[in-house]
Amino acid sequence: MPDDSLRPEPTPDKAPRTSLFGIYLGDFADAKRHVKLWLGLGDPFGVDHFETLYKKPDPWNYERSSYDLVKRQVVEFALGAEQYQRAFDVGSGEAHLAAHLRSHFTSIDLLDAAESALERARARVGLPGQNLAGDLRKSLAALAPGAYDLCLFSEVLYYFAPIPWGPLDRELRHAVARALRPGGRLVLVHPLAFFYHRGWRADPRFTFVRAVTLGAGRKVEVLVLERNAQPA
Ligand SMILES: C[S@@+](CC[C@H](N)C(=O)[O-])C[C@H]1O[C@@H](n2cnc3c(N)ncnc32)[C@H](O)[C@@H]1O
Repeated sequence: MPDDSLRPEPTPDKAPRTSLFGIYLGDFADAKRHVKLWLGLGDPFGVDHFETLYKKPDPWNYERSSYDLVKRQVVEFALGAEQYQRAFDVGSGEAHLAAHLRSHFTSIDLLDAAESALERARARVGLPGQNLAGDLRKSLAALAPGAYDLCLFSEVLYYFAPIPWGPLDRELRHAVARALRPGGRLVLVHPLAFFYHRGWRADPRFTFVRAVTLGAGRKVEVLVLERNAQPA
Protein backbone atom coordinates (compact mmCIF):
# COMPACT_ATOMS: atom_id res chain seq x y z
CA MET A 1 0.00 0.00 0.00
CA PRO A 2 1.51 3.42 -0.92
CA ASP A 3 2.57 5.58 2.02
CA ASP A 4 0.35 8.70 2.19
CA SER A 5 2.62 10.32 4.73
CA LEU A 6 5.24 10.85 2.01
CA ARG A 7 3.40 13.74 0.39
CA PRO A 8 5.73 15.83 -1.78
CA GLU A 9 6.02 19.59 -1.47
CA PRO A 10 4.40 21.37 -4.44
CA THR A 11 6.81 22.88 -6.95
CA PRO A 12 6.15 24.89 -10.13
CA ASP A 13 5.29 22.93 -13.27
CA LYS A 14 8.30 21.83 -15.27
CA ALA A 15 6.31 20.70 -18.33
CA PRO A 16 5.97 23.26 -21.17
CA ARG A 17 2.32 24.14 -20.61
CA THR A 18 0.74 27.37 -21.78
CA SER A 19 -2.44 29.41 -21.66
CA LEU A 20 -3.86 32.35 -23.59
CA PHE A 21 -6.15 34.90 -21.90
CA GLY A 22 -6.53 32.42 -19.04
CA ILE A 23 -7.59 29.58 -21.36
CA TYR A 24 -5.34 26.55 -20.96
CA LEU A 25 -4.13 25.40 -24.34
CA GLY A 26 -2.32 22.23 -23.35
CA ASP A 27 1.33 21.37 -23.71
CA PHE A 28 2.74 23.87 -26.16
CA ALA A 29 5.18 21.30 -27.55
CA ASP A 30 2.16 19.24 -28.69
CA ALA A 31 0.46 22.04 -30.67
CA LYS A 32 1.45 20.68 -34.10
CA ARG A 33 0.28 17.20 -33.14
CA HIS A 34 -3.11 18.54 -32.05
CA VAL A 35 -3.55 20.31 -35.39
CA LYS A 36 -2.72 17.05 -37.21
CA LEU A 37 -5.23 15.17 -35.05
CA TRP A 38 -8.01 17.69 -35.76
CA LEU A 39 -7.25 17.52 -39.48
CA GLY A 40 -7.30 13.70 -39.39
CA LEU A 41 -3.67 13.49 -40.60
CA GLY A 42 -2.08 10.25 -39.39
CA ASP A 43 -1.79 9.22 -35.75
CA PRO A 44 0.18 12.00 -34.02
CA PHE A 45 -0.55 10.67 -30.51
CA GLY A 46 0.14 6.99 -31.07
CA VAL A 47 1.45 4.46 -28.55
CA ASP A 48 5.09 5.25 -29.49
CA HIS A 49 4.61 8.91 -28.65
CA PHE A 50 3.55 8.09 -25.08
CA GLU A 51 6.08 5.26 -24.59
CA THR A 52 8.82 7.73 -25.48
CA LEU A 53 7.44 10.32 -23.04
CA TYR A 54 7.25 7.79 -20.20
CA LYS A 55 10.90 6.76 -20.56
CA LYS A 56 11.26 9.45 -17.92
CA PRO A 57 8.83 8.90 -15.01
CA ASP A 58 6.12 11.52 -14.45
CA PRO A 59 6.61 13.50 -17.69
CA TRP A 60 3.96 16.08 -16.73
CA ASN A 61 5.17 16.56 -13.15
CA TYR A 62 1.85 15.33 -11.68
CA GLU A 63 3.57 14.30 -8.47
CA ARG A 64 4.64 17.78 -7.47
CA SER A 65 2.83 20.47 -9.45
CA SER A 66 0.60 22.59 -7.25
CA TYR A 67 -2.08 22.64 -9.95
CA ASP A 68 -2.32 18.84 -9.98
CA LEU A 69 -2.34 18.57 -6.19
CA VAL A 70 -5.37 20.91 -6.09
CA LYS A 71 -7.01 19.24 -9.07
CA ARG A 72 -6.93 15.84 -7.37
CA GLN A 73 -8.72 17.29 -4.36
CA VAL A 74 -11.35 18.94 -6.55
CA VAL A 75 -12.01 15.65 -8.38
CA GLU A 76 -12.42 13.87 -5.03
CA PHE A 77 -14.85 16.59 -3.89
CA ALA A 78 -16.87 16.19 -7.13
CA LEU A 79 -16.97 12.42 -6.66
CA GLY A 80 -18.83 12.81 -3.37
CA ALA A 81 -19.01 10.14 -0.67
CA GLU A 82 -20.03 7.24 -2.92
CA GLN A 83 -18.13 3.96 -3.10
CA TYR A 84 -17.59 2.04 -6.34
CA GLN A 85 -16.87 -1.68 -6.65
CA ARG A 86 -15.25 -1.63 -10.05
CA ALA A 87 -13.71 1.50 -11.51
CA PHE A 88 -12.01 2.07 -14.86
CA ASP A 89 -9.39 4.79 -15.36
CA VAL A 90 -8.96 5.44 -19.07
CA GLY A 91 -5.63 7.04 -19.95
CA SER A 92 -4.56 6.57 -16.35
CA GLY A 93 -0.94 7.52 -16.93
CA GLU A 94 0.92 6.66 -13.74
CA ALA A 95 -2.36 6.88 -11.76
CA HIS A 96 -1.55 9.89 -9.61
CA LEU A 97 -5.25 10.79 -9.71
CA ALA A 98 -6.59 7.24 -9.28
CA ALA A 99 -4.28 6.72 -6.30
CA HIS A 100 -5.67 9.86 -4.67
CA LEU A 101 -9.22 8.50 -5.15
CA ARG A 102 -8.49 4.88 -4.20
CA SER A 103 -10.47 4.89 -0.93
CA HIS A 104 -13.62 5.16 -3.12
CA PHE A 105 -12.86 2.00 -5.11
CA THR A 106 -12.70 -1.72 -4.37
CA SER A 107 -10.87 -2.49 -7.61
CA ILE A 108 -9.74 -0.49 -10.60
CA ASP A 109 -8.86 -1.39 -14.19
CA LEU A 110 -6.20 0.90 -15.65
CA LEU A 111 -5.84 1.54 -19.37
CA ASP A 112 -3.01 3.46 -20.95
CA ALA A 113 -1.18 3.63 -24.24
CA ALA A 114 2.16 3.25 -22.40
CA GLU A 115 2.86 -0.07 -20.72
CA SER A 116 5.69 1.44 -18.67
CA ALA A 117 3.27 3.99 -17.20
CA LEU A 118 0.83 1.21 -16.27
CA GLU A 119 3.43 -0.72 -14.28
CA ARG A 120 4.14 2.36 -12.17
CA ALA A 121 0.40 3.11 -12.01
CA ARG A 122 -0.51 -0.29 -10.52
CA ALA A 123 2.17 0.03 -7.87
CA ARG A 124 0.96 3.52 -6.99
CA VAL A 125 -2.76 2.77 -6.87
CA GLY A 126 -2.37 -0.27 -4.61
CA LEU A 127 -5.71 -1.86 -5.60
CA PRO A 128 -6.54 -5.06 -7.53
CA GLY A 129 -7.61 -4.87 -11.16
CA GLN A 130 -6.49 -5.38 -14.73
CA ASN A 131 -3.83 -3.41 -16.58
CA LEU A 132 -4.90 -2.82 -20.19
CA ALA A 133 -1.98 -1.57 -22.28
CA GLY A 134 -2.38 -0.07 -25.73
CA ASP A 135 -4.47 2.30 -27.76
CA LEU A 136 -7.94 2.81 -26.34
CA ARG A 137 -9.35 3.17 -29.84
CA LYS A 138 -8.44 -0.49 -30.47
CA SER A 139 -9.96 -1.88 -27.26
CA LEU A 140 -13.26 0.01 -27.19
CA ALA A 141 -15.31 -2.78 -28.72
CA ALA A 142 -13.88 -5.35 -26.25
CA LEU A 143 -15.13 -3.55 -23.13
CA ALA A 144 -17.60 -5.87 -21.41
CA PRO A 145 -21.19 -4.51 -21.27
CA GLY A 146 -22.20 -3.13 -17.86
CA ALA A 147 -18.82 -4.05 -16.36
CA TYR A 148 -18.07 -0.79 -14.56
CA ASP A 149 -19.54 1.26 -11.73
CA LEU A 150 -17.36 4.24 -12.57
CA CYS A 151 -15.35 5.40 -15.59
CA LEU A 152 -12.78 8.17 -15.28
CA PHE A 153 -11.33 10.17 -18.18
CA SER A 154 -8.93 12.81 -16.95
CA GLU A 155 -6.94 14.97 -19.38
CA VAL A 156 -7.19 12.42 -22.17
CA LEU A 157 -10.05 13.27 -24.53
CA TYR A 158 -7.94 15.82 -26.41
CA TYR A 159 -5.56 13.02 -27.44
CA PHE A 160 -8.08 10.76 -29.15
CA ALA A 161 -11.60 12.17 -29.35
CA PRO A 162 -11.22 15.94 -29.48
CA ILE A 163 -14.14 16.97 -31.68
CA PRO A 164 -17.70 16.90 -30.25
CA TRP A 165 -19.88 14.62 -32.38
CA GLY A 166 -16.85 13.63 -34.47
CA PRO A 167 -16.60 9.89 -35.30
CA LEU A 168 -14.21 9.12 -32.40
CA ASP A 169 -16.26 11.10 -29.90
CA ARG A 170 -19.40 9.19 -30.93
CA GLU A 171 -17.64 5.82 -30.90
CA LEU A 172 -16.19 6.52 -27.47
CA ARG A 173 -19.51 7.67 -25.98
CA HIS A 174 -21.18 4.54 -27.32
CA ALA A 175 -18.48 2.27 -25.84
CA VAL A 176 -18.61 3.99 -22.45
CA ALA A 177 -22.43 3.88 -22.40
CA ARG A 178 -22.13 0.11 -22.96
CA ALA A 179 -19.37 -0.45 -20.43
CA LEU A 180 -21.09 1.41 -17.56
CA ARG A 181 -23.87 -0.31 -15.65
CA PRO A 182 -27.13 1.69 -15.36
CA GLY A 183 -26.63 4.04 -12.41
CA GLY A 184 -22.84 3.95 -12.92
CA ARG A 185 -20.95 7.22 -12.91
CA LEU A 186 -18.77 8.85 -15.53
CA VAL A 187 -16.22 11.45 -14.44
CA LEU A 188 -14.62 13.73 -17.05
CA VAL A 189 -11.81 16.13 -16.13
CA HIS A 190 -10.63 18.52 -18.85
CA PRO A 191 -9.72 22.09 -19.70
CA LEU A 192 -11.76 23.67 -22.54
CA ALA A 193 -14.69 21.66 -21.23
CA PHE A 194 -17.24 23.73 -23.17
CA PHE A 195 -15.69 21.95 -26.17
CA TYR A 196 -14.50 18.51 -25.00
CA HIS A 197 -17.49 17.78 -22.73
CA ARG A 198 -20.11 19.12 -25.10
CA GLY A 199 -21.16 15.87 -26.77
CA TRP A 200 -21.19 14.04 -23.41
CA ARG A 201 -23.41 16.61 -21.73
CA ALA A 202 -25.91 16.37 -24.59
CA ASP A 203 -25.85 12.58 -24.84
CA PRO A 204 -29.30 11.22 -23.80
CA ARG A 205 -27.71 8.08 -22.27
CA PHE A 206 -26.13 10.17 -19.51
CA THR A 207 -27.80 12.33 -16.86
CA PHE A 208 -26.07 15.36 -15.38
CA VAL A 209 -25.12 14.91 -11.71
CA ARG A 210 -22.78 17.81 -10.97
CA ALA A 211 -19.95 19.90 -12.37
CA VAL A 212 -17.17 21.60 -10.44
CA THR A 213 -14.84 24.09 -12.09
CA LEU A 214 -11.32 24.71 -10.89
CA GLY A 215 -10.11 28.14 -12.01
CA ALA A 216 -6.65 28.30 -10.47
CA GLY A 217 -4.42 29.40 -13.36
CA ARG A 218 -5.98 26.84 -15.64
CA LYS A 219 -9.72 26.42 -15.90
CA VAL A 220 -10.64 22.76 -15.65
CA GLU A 221 -14.10 21.20 -15.34
CA VAL A 222 -14.85 18.06 -13.39
CA LEU A 223 -18.10 16.76 -14.87
CA VAL A 224 -19.99 13.91 -13.20
CA LEU A 225 -22.66 12.13 -15.28
CA GLU A 226 -24.77 9.08 -14.48
CA ARG A 227 -25.51 6.28 -16.92
CA ASN A 228 -29.30 6.20 -17.21
CA ALA A 229 -31.62 3.51 -18.56
CA GLN A 230 -31.48 4.56 -22.25
CA PRO A 231 -30.23 1.66 -24.37
CA ALA A 232 -26.60 1.93 -25.55
C1 LIG B 1 -2.06 13.91 -19.75
S1 LIG B 1 -2.00 12.22 -19.27
C2 LIG B 1 -3.30 12.12 -18.05
C3 LIG B 1 -3.05 11.06 -17.00
C4 LIG B 1 -4.15 10.85 -15.95
N1 LIG B 1 -5.42 10.56 -16.55
C5 LIG B 1 -4.29 12.06 -15.04
O1 LIG B 1 -5.17 12.90 -15.25
O2 LIG B 1 -3.49 12.16 -14.11
C6 LIG B 1 -2.78 11.46 -20.68
C7 LIG B 1 -2.63 9.95 -20.69
O3 LIG B 1 -3.49 9.41 -21.70
C8 LIG B 1 -2.83 8.35 -22.34
N2 LIG B 1 -3.38 8.22 -23.71
C9 LIG B 1 -3.43 9.17 -24.66
N3 LIG B 1 -3.99 8.70 -25.79
C10 LIG B 1 -4.31 7.41 -25.53
C11 LIG B 1 -4.92 6.38 -26.31
N4 LIG B 1 -5.32 6.57 -27.58
N5 LIG B 1 -5.11 5.18 -25.75
C12 LIG B 1 -4.74 4.95 -24.46
N6 LIG B 1 -4.14 5.89 -23.68
C13 LIG B 1 -3.93 7.10 -24.21
C14 LIG B 1 -1.36 8.76 -22.33
O4 LIG B 1 -0.48 7.67 -22.44
C15 LIG B 1 -1.23 9.49 -21.01
O5 LIG B 1 -0.79 8.64 -19.98
